[in-house]
Amino acid sequence: MPSGTAPGRTAVTVSLDQLRRCHIAVDLGAARTRVYVKGVGLVVDEPSVAAVNIRSGALIAVGALAEKMTGRTPEYIRVVRPISGGTVVDIEMAQRMIRHLLGEKLRRQLRRKPRLRAAACTPHLSDPLAQRASVETLVGLGARRVELVDTLIAAAVGCGLPVEQPTATMIVVSGAATTQLAVLSLGSIVTAERIPVGGNAIDNAVIQHLRTQHELLLPSQSVRPLQLALHGNGLHSHGPESTEIHGRDVATGLARSVQVDTAAVRNAIHTPLTSVIDGIGKVLRDCPPDLVADLADRGITMVGGSALLPGFDQMLRDATGMPVRIADRPDVCAVLGLGAMLEGNVKPLAFDPLTEVEE
Ligand SMILES: Nc1ncnc2c1ncn2[C@@H]1O[C@H](COP(=O)(O)OP(=O)(O)OP(=O)(O)O)[C@@H](O)[C@H]1O
Ligand SMILES: [Mg+2]
Repeated sequence: MPSGTAPGRTAVTVSLDQLRRCHIAVDLGAARTRVYVKGVGLVVDEPSVAAVNIRSGALIAVGALAEKMTGRTPEYIRVVRPISGGTVVDIEMAQRMIRHLLGEKLRRQLRRKPRLRAAACTPHLSDPLAQRASVETLVGLGARRVELVDTLIAAAVGCGLPVEQPTATMIVVSGAATTQLAVLSLGSIVTAERIPVGGNAIDNAVIQHLRTQHELLLPSQSVRPLQLALHGNGLHSHGPESTEIHGRDVATGLARSVQVDTAAVRNAIHTPLTSVIDGIGKVLRDCPPDLVADLADRGITMVGGSALLPGFDQMLRDATGMPVRIADRPDVCAVLGLGAMLEGNVKPLAFDPLTEVEE
């Protein structure tokens, strides 16, 4: 960080020069791992999941295939998620997983670079231990130097927000583990919040609802189909009034199906999301009035996989009265933003000192 940058603030200019010298950009998410290679593009976008044989320690599958195995393995195969809550919790497993996701050809290509430099997204206000874990993961993969960029900045660049201008923009990054939101101006974060609610909390809300209201255990893989069974309506109220769900009876353990009231499921999904609205309120209260006025025009940009939850944008629109738009390809905005910085497509923030006129 250049001297003069206020602590706690991350500027786009932090190390644009350094970033331009990086070869790969990595976003280690709780749900998905994404890798961008300079000059090539997005090469990996796979679930952050690995399946291991616990008898031999051998890796059996990674990515989408390993995710499919969740809940379907014999006891000697364990499906693990080395990244949890936006932090690498098992560095060695994360490295093995990423090596396999990259594949032999790319791995050889990167090994040929004698001084491999990597850039990685780090969640806003992540603690030093979490940052250290990301750095160590990439160092173990051969990186000599790792640049960390705040996810909020990377995502804002990735969705084309005019971050470097003296006008306020608000971004909401809703992933699997967390929702991060910020008001940005002049390439810096003015105010920000990180809320531990994302796609996982939504899935849990649905699971809990069925368990308490219908005494039904849902197989882990059918939560997503269940949300889709709300006929892609998510939080919208149109669509069927009820839908049939198959699961296992909590008491007897036998397979059973129930008719579930979709309005009740919608309510259950709505509950965790109210903390996102509270977060937006807090960020706006902490924000200087001039910037809030800009926001009334420019509105909120949503990114992250959970931004795709139907009706989430409308919920924010209703709660704030501001325009809300979902970015193009919201799930990969952060890594594409890092990629743009690697390729040198991001204009540096140049504040040339004005020549002072002598009287
Ligand atoms: N069409 C969709 N509708 C609803 N939710 C979706 C949709 N597509 C993806 N999601 C949710 O988005 C989440 C994944 O988003 P994303 O890829 O941004 O997470 P991540 O970057 O891995 O997580 P984090 O940033 O929290 O570490 C998952 O929880 C998934 O359920
Ligand atoms: Mg993410």
